[in-house]
Amino acid sequence: MVRMIKVPTKTIDPRNPKKNMSNEVVTNRSVTYVNNTTPATITSSELDLSSCYQEDEIVIEIHAAALNPVDFITHQLCNSYIFGKYPKTYSRDYSGVIVKVGKNVDNHWKVGDKVNGMYGHLYGERGTLSHYLILNPAKDVPITHMVEVPKDENDPYDDFTYAAAWPLTFGTAFSVLHDFKKDWNSGSKVLVIGASTSVAYAFIHIAKNYFNIGTVVGVCSKNSIERNKKLGYDYLVPYDEGTIVDNVGKLKESELENEKFDMIFDSVGNHDFFPVIDHFLKPKAEDSFYVTIAGNNKYNYKNITWREFVSLRTILMVLNPFKKYNWRFGKPSPSNNFIEVGNEMIKKGTYKPPIDSVFEFEKYQDALERIMSNRAKGKVVVRMK
Ligand SMILES: NC(=O)c1ccc[n+]([C@@H]2O[C@H](COP(=O)([O-])OP(=O)(O)OC[C@H]3O[C@@H](n4cnc5c(N)ncnc54)[C@H](OP(=O)(O)O)[C@@H]3O)[C@@H](O)[C@H]2O)c1
Repeated sequence: MVRMIKVPTKTIDPRNPKKNMSNEVVTNRSVTYVNNTTPATITSSELDLSSCYQEDEIVIEIHAAALNPVDFITHQLCNSYIFGKYPKTYSRDYSGVIVKVGKNVDNHWKVGDKVNGMYGHLYGERGTLSHYLILNPAKDVPITHMVEVPKDENDPYDDFTYAAAWPLTFGTAFSVLHDFKKDWNSGSKVLVIGASTSVAYAFIHIAKNYFNIGTVVGVCSKNSIERNKKLGYDYLVPYDEGTIVDNVGKLKESELENEKFDMIFDSVGNHDFFPVIDHFLKPKAEDSFYVTIAGNNKYNYKNITWREFVSLRTILMVLNPFKKYNWRFGKPSPSNNFIEVGNEMIKKGTYKPPIDSVFEFEKYQDALERIMSNRAKGKVVVRMK
């Protein structure tokens, strides 16, 4: 359903007639919602490109944006009493072209530059499923200049589509591997629960091509085993045939000389290993970590509640000072410069952002349905231009 709501945002300043006469007024259309009882809707507002930005800001005309589960998770958890009644935007990943630069912006950023990045916000009025994004490039990091993705002649996607498809998932995976454990080497062993997710796609490429990790075991559906083998996993076990713990336990005995893992990385929301964690994860004195990016339960994407989102189990996990293992919640940390690592890996051909599907802006609802299906293999990208 596409509903158009006009949001008047241009204010007329009677003391500044020149400003009012600007012929740079554009229509900015964005996908927004007010709370969890209002649907995601296209809203439109007028933006005067001659005056809509501060001296330390740039204006980016967005060409493509990628969706992430966090978009509809935050929407479903949005209560107007807590988060206000203003329109809140969707999406964080973007690619586009700079069309305005404030006079105090570093000259690294120029009009015409093609850029991409992750615009971090929680219930922000500005988001990336929008035709224009105004941001401060010194503060709203990560942002970078787009690089060309190595392609063959049959490649269906252009650089804007690829550029929008990776910052958040790549940044999450890189931060999990970079920020907690001090050393990785060819003897290191990692277990990935949820080997088919987009974050895990980045994780396996970074693990193998950047940190040179020796052994990575993945858990995925039995239908995805062949697909994931090609990504570089050393071993894959199904979650939908027998139990995960039994399947990984058997593999550990038969193929890993019964050695434990240096890290268990959960990219879907799982708690199966906690009762038997001593059998699977090395002691915490050996710099081992259990890292989740999705909590300890798999959400039902169609109906997410606060109770499910912040479960008692997760709270205890965070607060319990007597845990025998290092438990961490992983998220992208721009300070580790993952955006430049991503660019380097893309240029070298050691990571190519995975694309599941591409939708036109007006079909944003189909794009949301696709990611909510929980079957996407790669990113769901929305073309704005
Ligand atoms: N903390 C953070 O900063 C952060 C950042 C990014 C993402 N996340 C979270 O990380 C999770 C993954 O995000 P994503 O965008 O990478 O996911 P995604 O690409 O949408 O993942 C889809 C894949 O998940 C797999 N899957 C579905 N149910 C599964 C299950 N029960 N066990 C194992 N795999 C299952 C499916 O493959 P199969 O064929 O194998 O089932 C499917 O292809 C989400 O919960 C997201 O909210 C957190």
